[in-house]
Amino acid sequence: MTTGLTTDQLIDRFGRKITYLRISITDRCDFRCVYCMAEQMEFLPRAAILSLEEIYQIAKVFTELGVKKIRITGGEPLVRKGALGLLQQLGQLASLDELVLTTNGSQLVELAEPLCKAGVKRLNISLDTLDPIKFKAITRTGNLQQVLQGIEVAKTQKFTRIKLNAVILKDRNHQEVPDLVRFAIQQGIDISFIEEMPLGIVEQHNRAEAYYSSDDIKADLAREFSLVHTETKTGGPSDYFHVAGTTTKVGFISPHSHNFCGSCNRVRLTVEGRLLLCLGNEHSIDLKQLMRREDYQEADLKQAIIDAMLIKPERHEFNLHEQPVIMRYMNMTGG
Ligand code: GTP
Ligand code: 5AD
Ligand code: SF4
Repeated sequence: MTTGLTTDQLIDRFGRKITYLRISITDRCDFRCVYCMAEQMEFLPRAAILSLEEIYQIAKVFTELGVKKIRITGGEPLVRKGALGLLQQLGQLASLDELVLTTNGSQLVELAEPLCKAGVKRLNISLDTLDPIKFKAITRTGNLQQVLQGIEVAKTQKFTRIKLNAVILKDRNHQEVPDLVRFAIQQGIDISFIEEMPLGIVEQHNRAEAYYSSDDIKADLAREFSLVHTETKTGGPSDYFHVAGTTTKVGFISPHSHNFCGSCNRVRLTVEGRLLLCLGNEHSIDLKQLMRREDYQEADLKQAIIDAMLIKPERHEFNLHEQPVIMRYMNMTGG
């Protein structure tokens, strides 16, 4: 049975149009960043996760419903076997404007070229520090040199843009903000600074004490750089500034100090097959269960996605001073 659905149907109760899907293709990662995971993590068993074919089918249906941008995330998306093949398939989706990827950069030396060939337009690469010792302390298992080499290789490819993501924690890496901007300028790439969000229980720091606001960062940068506000948008939460006299944009992702939920245009698919309507809430529907029913039809999937818009919450309510309300770690959604 066909329901005669057309595009542009994904509008929530607050009139927000959903044009951006973030897909976490694995909860696994080769790093253990202190703000993202606990040191000892249990990852999902194979039976609990979507197959790459199921992910592709869901992505395709979203593009038929008006989604124009898909971001692949993790964990670290590139540790999933077959990730590249999936990206190649997604890169062929006719009505998609942008296929983009968020990565920790650990595998870009080998994968930057095939990713670009697969049709990935932009890369966001996590980089919180340029100091190898701090890098090890923050990522627990990461190797800075590997990531820096990955960035080098990525720059030789024809990505439209490369952006660094730095989660800034007071007394851990806040002193490095000017160095990170200088590095981005040297590399001819962009950088976003991110206020840490309280998802899951982390052991190594107190999130309230580690809070360093975007305004603090702007004040630090103003001593050295001239930041000019721009209306440029990438469809994500960053509010961008040009660094005068350079090609670099500095973005601020400020879930605490400058809430951006009013312009939210996105939903997330977790690797367990949950369609999560908001990063900071648990409202979701189970697409895996629906797709694995014996009488499953694609029209059911479309209708379920359209109906899910009705439960998209208005905004997240993060409180750094209390135990996290959301016990899901960030690696389940890739941010
Ligand atoms: P572009 O704008 O396309 O470059 O990407 P992005 O900045 O949206 O995505 P990225 O994966 O690089 O995420 C950067 C940070 O933004 C991460 O810390 C995400 O958790 C955060 N983020 C992205 N979308 C949302 C959102 O809807 N709500 C909240 N609270 N944070 C978000
Ligand atoms: N708060 C804010 N950003 C986070 N990220 C991971 N965990 C958190 C958190 N608790 C960032 C990563 C990556 C992006 C997808 O999300 O650094 O750049
Ligand atoms: Fe891995 Fe990214 Fe989480 Fe760090 S923030 S542990 S790189 S998923």
